[in-house]
Amino acid sequence: MNDNALFLGKFLSQITQGNPIASIAPSSRWLARTTIRNIDWSTTRSIVELGAGTGPITRAIAERAHPDCRVLVVERDHDFLRLLRDRFCERPNLEIIEGDARELAGILADRGLDRVDHVVSGLPFPSFRKEQQRALMRSVRSVLRTGGSYNQITELALIYWPLYRRFFERVEFAFEPRNLPPSGAYICRDPREIH
Ligand SMILES: C[S@@+](CC[C@H](N)C(=O)[O-])C[C@H]1O[C@@H](n2cnc3c(N)ncnc32)[C@H](O)[C@@H]1O
Repeated sequence: MNDNALFLGKFLSQITQGNPIASIAPSSRWLARTTIRNIDWSTTRSIVELGAGTGPITRAIAERAHPDCRVLVVERDHDFLRLLRDRFCERPNLEIIEGDARELAGILADRGLDRVDHVVSGLPFPSFRKEQQRALMRSVRSVLRTGGSYNQITELALIYWPLYRRFFERVEFAFEPRNLPPSGAYICRDPREIH
């Protein structure tokens, strides 16, 4: 089965099973590149990706990451996990982890990491319940190294800017017109304290 068919099947099944996917197709290679375009790979030594799906952003990260950069990829869907493990098994610095992104801090602690340089998210974050959003952002704040970024893909250009501003002091939008639909990524820095 090709990636688009698998992804569409997951999108349709979320209606009955409640697994949030929130888009009908994987990110294009252009969106994948745009999502991580701010990252300085010469200094990045740890990065975590949340909600990898079929792995278009994982591939862009894997192609750029320094061999000494630890790449952790968190996904919770079994079919996507199988595909990701198959696709990236030859990357010794990349680990595919079955888990829930909302348990990010624990997932990193289990692997001896308390901080990462960047967090890249393909999660359907706006569909999370408010308390889940806050829990994830508390975790992100606790693990993101000073100066690091939280990069969040979106299919709705600019609409969610106020949502991410609630959690970060600085939010930029990186637009990618070549994706279908045209979309982009929020590049968020300086996490705010969450009460
Ligand atoms: C919109 S898709 C994005 C997939 C991929 N990053 C891309 O850009 O094509 C969202 C992904 O997040 C995963 N996901 C949703 N909630 C999750 C959670 N709580 N923990 C880990 N993964 C989750 C879904 O299984 C799906 O693979």
